[in-house]
Amino acid sequence: MTRNSSAPIADVSDPGVPSRYDGCRSAPESAFRGALIDALDGIDSNLVTFHDRFPTASSDDLVYPSTDNSKGWTSGFWTGQCWLAYEVTGDEQYRNAAQTQLETFDRRLEDGDMETHDLGFLYTLSAVAGYRLTGQFEYRELAVAAAELLTDRYWDDLGLIQAWGPLDASASDEWVQGRMIADTMMNLPLLFWASETTDERRYATIADAHARTNVRHIVRDDASTAHTFKSDIESGAPLGVETHQGYADDSCWARGQAWQLYGYAIAATYTGESAYAELASKLANYYLERVEADHVPRWDFDAPADDGVRDSSAAAVAACGLDELSRILPSADDRTRQYRTAALETLESLAENYTTDPDSSNGLLMEGSYHRTDDDFDECCLWGDYFYVEGLVRATEQWERYW
Ligand code: GLY
Repeated sequence: MTRNSSAPIADVSDPGVPSRYDGCRSAPESAFRGALIDALDGIDSNLVTFHDRFPTASSDDLVYPSTDNSKGWTSGFWTGQCWLAYEVTGDEQYRNAAQTQLETFDRRLEDGDMETHDLGFLYTLSAVAGYRLTGQFEYRELAVAAAELLTDRYWDDLGLIQAWGPLDASASDEWVQGRMIADTMMNLPLLFWASETTDERRYATIADAHARTNVRHIVRDDASTAHTFKSDIESGAPLGVETHQGYADDSCWARGQAWQLYGYAIAATYTGESAYAELASKLANYYLERVEADHVPRWDFDAPADDGVRDSSAAAVAACGLDELSRILPSADDRTRQYRTAALETLESLAENYTTDPDSSNGLLMEGSYHRTDDDFDECCLWGDYFYVEGLVRATEQWERYW
């Protein structure tokens, strides 16, 4: 199916609403609508293969193989794309696919891998989005159940959510125990949402405590971020930072910085904490100072100069975070326009320079770097595709976030 780029994508856009583009240096809005239509065409062509299956986390030669939803952290990014497509087009085929996939999230809760902090990524973009868009109560229950499991990963004495592996000392390898990671800031929205929807404060209390521990141990004085930090689970003693996917323990992994900037922007909206908005702004400034001229970062800001590998997925996450930040700062604040412009320029560059050829790829964005040091780079990444579509929807619609 090919769409006409001059036709409205959906009837949700109200021409009477003042454009948030006013005063922003960027391509015209129609360019983003054209890019969104192309992305929707890409989603369409995957709907049969991935009706109740999922693209893998990253592609092989720009083609995603198919996988099930029993493990891994990325299946929600496909369901999230289906929900976004449903929201902007009203086309039932996307809703049917998302709802079929939701059955697999239900089964996973019973017998799949749930021992991960990534429950936020998994269940926000599937179940919370499904509940927000359809009002179906079973999706709310599913998302709250996932939030409950996420709270089980909280080490009270350490004030942090353990990222990976079982908490049980006998089953867990020592490296993961008491270890928090930068990415978790984007899993906290599930907890903030659960508090809001159930009126039970404890979910938000844990999210807030983790965010505060993150400020102390992951965010550095110059507003760059470390990837992981570990505390001793017996004594509570801080054992220091280490990287997992970045270049070095003291480097700044670009996607980690993007997770943090978007995560604190969302935490600010749920908590009303201006300190979180200000921190998100500092994280954004660091990111913007170090991003490449075409608005897409190298995979790690401190990688050797001759390592030019990019991470388009980090740029897509950052674009959404910058847009969120532009929405929460006061409109008279100069940063509002600056971040909005940066978000749009990033999306423009992604659309022009980083989109795949649909004849040879079933992904949307190329030059994603999942794990550079494990030789997994220069591929499509499923979350990069999701955030690219979210960014384009943000650029063209009055969108309420799923997070
Ligand atoms: N959350 C895992 C990653 O960003 O690769």
